[in-house]
Amino acid sequence: MRKNKQLLIIAVTAIGLGLTAALTAVAVVYSGAYDISATRQHWQATHSLLEIAMRQSVRQQAASIEEPALTDPQMALRGAASFHDKCVQCHGAPGVAQSAIGLSMQPLPGPLVDAKRHWRPRELYWVVRHGIKMTGMPAWQYRLADAEIWDLVAFMQQLPQLDAMQYAQWTRPGLATPARESHAPASAATFTPDVERGRQALHQYACSACHTIPGVTGSRVHVGPPLKGMGTRTLIAGTLANSPANLALWLTATQQVKPGTAMPQLGVSSRDAQDIAAYLSTLR
Ligand code: HEC
Ligand code: HEC
Repeated sequence: MRKNKQLLIIAVTAIGLGLTAALTAVAVVYSGAYDISATRQHWQATHSLLEIAMRQSVRQQAASIEEPALTDPQMALRGAASFHDKCVQCHGAPGVAQSAIGLSMQPLPGPLVDAKRHWRPRELYWVVRHGIKMTGMPAWQYRLADAEIWDLVAFMQQLPQLDAMQYAQWTRPGLATPARESHAPASAATFTPDVERGRQALHQYACSACHTIPGVTGSRVHVGPPLKGMGTRTLIAGTLANSPANLALWLTATQQVKPGTAMPQLGVSSRDAQDIAAYLSTLR
């Protein structure tokens, strides 16, 4: 009997503590007490915890990626050019400071001079391809071909050896030979649109910043019309007969199809446009 009573007290206390914790969390969220500013740092403990979670996630996600040889010096040179174009503003480089954007971010993007010490090549590839959620590290999958991402990884293998003068030499315009593989779309004969890839691309081209789209997480926005039921509409933007091919055309040549429309031309690649059109056509 006594034992049962003890168990009951323990259970009631546990439930009570759980409820108190949940209510405190709700109160903190809704009162606005949490300081969301990027000028206020995380506690060291929070920072370390987030960093460990990020590291473990990248290791796990990248575990099965096969690494190509990274020894061709042209790869590193091409990587240097693209690093100078796309990464320096946030990460800086030997003798080059981060821009105001990089300096103002939370978490602060570090110089990648020691990245080789912390990450295997396949992990660097994964980080650059997919980006890191909730940090501001962008995903490059939709802007760079796989070969171009490996070029960047090859460059990061050489980065620790470069001083400011060598970095400046490496990034002189016209030094690297152009990449073999470009981001060109697959030929029409071999290409079958990929609905799931299209769904993911909707986020990578900011579509969900203006449209509410079923199946895509986002805020409730009304800048563009909601895309629910897009597969069953007769017209696109009131001008073009609705079909997957015309949807892809709308996405790649928005301003030619309807000059002056409020929807910007977003530089969607031909392949991505066909994948997105395939997804939108499934919406009932
Ligand atoms: C808009 C700013 C921005 C740009 C542009 C950017 N990054 Fe990042 N990057 C970040 C931020 C923020 C982090 C996360 C830092 C953290 O959590 O410690 C990060 C993290 C990384 C990491 C993990 C590094 C580590 O050890 O913490 C790598 C590798 C990386 N970036 C490579 C690149 C490459 C290569 C490019 C260019 C193709 C690039 N980044 C462009 C902001 C940027
Ligand atoms: C800056 C805001 C903005 C962004 C980003 C944007 N759109 Fe739009 N979109 C609009 C507006 C505004 C319209 C209405 C255009 C009109 O009717 O002239 C529109 C119209 C459309 C239509 C036609 C809808 C209908 O009811 O006929 C489709 C489909 C569409 N957008 C898809 C996309 C996709 C896919 C993306 C991403 C690649 C995208 N949009 C990005 C603002 C945006």
